[in-house]
Amino acid sequence: MELSKVVLADDEIPRQWYNILADMPTPMRPPLHPGTGKPIGPDDLAPVFPMNLIEQEVSTQRWIDIPEEVIEKYLLWRPTPLCRARNFEKLLNAPVKIYYKNEGVSPPGSHKPNTAVPQAYYNKAFGIKRLSTETGAGQWGSALSMACAMFGLECRVFMVRVSYEQKPYRRLMMGAWGAECIPSPSKVTQAGRTILEADPNCPGSLGIAISEAIEDAVMDPDARYSLGSVLNHVLLHQTVIGLEAQKQLEKIGEYPDVVLGCAGGGSNFAGITLPFVRDKIHGKDVSIVAAEPASCPTLTRGPFAYDFGDTAMTTPLLAMYTLGHDFLPEPIHAGGLRYHGMAPIVSHLTKEGIVEARAFNQLETFSAGVKWARSEGFIPAPETNHVIAAVVQEAERAKQEGKEKVILFNWSGHGIIDLPAYDAFLSGKLVQHELGDEEIKRALKSIEGYPKP
Ligand SMILES: Cc1ncc(COP(=O)(O)O)c(C=O)c1O
Repeated sequence: MELSKVVLADDEIPRQWYNILADMPTPMRPPLHPGTGKPIGPDDLAPVFPMNLIEQEVSTQRWIDIPEEVIEKYLLWRPTPLCRARNFEKLLNAPVKIYYKNEGVSPPGSHKPNTAVPQAYYNKAFGIKRLSTETGAGQWGSALSMACAMFGLECRVFMVRVSYEQKPYRRLMMGAWGAECIPSPSKVTQAGRTILEADPNCPGSLGIAISEAIEDAVMDPDARYSLGSVLNHVLLHQTVIGLEAQKQLEKIGEYPDVVLGCAGGGSNFAGITLPFVRDKIHGKDVSIVAAEPASCPTLTRGPFAYDFGDTAMTTPLLAMYTLGHDFLPEPIHAGGLRYHGMAPIVSHLTKEGIVEARAFNQLETFSAGVKWARSEGFIPAPETNHVIAAVVQEAERAKQEGKEKVILFNWSGHGIIDLPAYDAFLSGKLVQHELGDEEIKRALKSIEGYPKP
């Protein structure tokens, strides 16, 4: 019988996360205080995050133990299966073997609970009572809502308005898990009110929603802010994906030629790739590819610069690829990829030439997603369609080069709650968004005058 998936037993779940900071080949630029231009210290972050997570954020320890309470929750859906996409392979008719980690099997349907659960756990352990966060497509907001319910924390989610309207079922899920979901920009915060005064119809962005969630958290001593991507500790928690994949591939004697993920803030991409990046740093021949939207081409068209993580300029300055903190991406359906910046770790690895980035337009990603759904069955999230488009491209290249390739990618989430996006695509209503150079130049004005990395 042909192998269709590799599953790990409960007791084979990784017991530690992998921290790439221990193996970075060159030093990363530190986050800077926007006022002083000097590197920030842990105390600067204390009003925003609990100290136990700040310690993880700055840690250079290679392996970090996963607390038993977190393992217990992970086991509700982890280890996730490593599947072989045989039907998709047949459809592509190329000399490739395609393996994917199905992160859509978690209760909210994506990779996001891999960090939501530990973040809720560490906040609870630190004595915090409420978490505030942003969400794009609603995947992160729903994941954190679930995690807060599990650890008895209150949760408030600022959801990018365009997604709030496109995806009502995500906010209903948040409600089912007991969280409060507010469309952003909102009148609840000063950051939201300022934006609404300038543009009452503003569709919102992740940058704006982050500003609102941070402001909301720092006004309440019992609350902290929680971020679903970008930061070092978030990427650290997601490495459970790649560590499981390594064990699973080892069981069948395979090693990938290329590992891919879609990249919004960089967390699921980092989650599957960082353990393989470690191998690459130590000499393995493996390509690492990030797929992003052509309408928000942070890695492929943005400069590597110091910029804020949010629109209201409340975060430290991060050294990253960015389109400028006031960049407003087109309201594409892949709401989770509409972010102006990129995780500093992913940015650094891209700058060092270890990670390669490619951009895909909305129509080609949905075309790839529909092919996937019609062959493999599972309907992918619009974000996930970007990496599927990159897999199609890899397969075409392998065919042209006449080379056999083993492909591994992260199937970051299902699209069952994104069906209006599929409806728009199938009825020809989905538009192509290509970004003009003028638009990028305009957005980049917002980062002029800050220190150069
Ligand atoms: C299914 C899915 N994939 C990918 C992403 C992109 O986020 P990240 O780059 O942090 O993995 C999101 C974000 O919401 C998502 O919901």
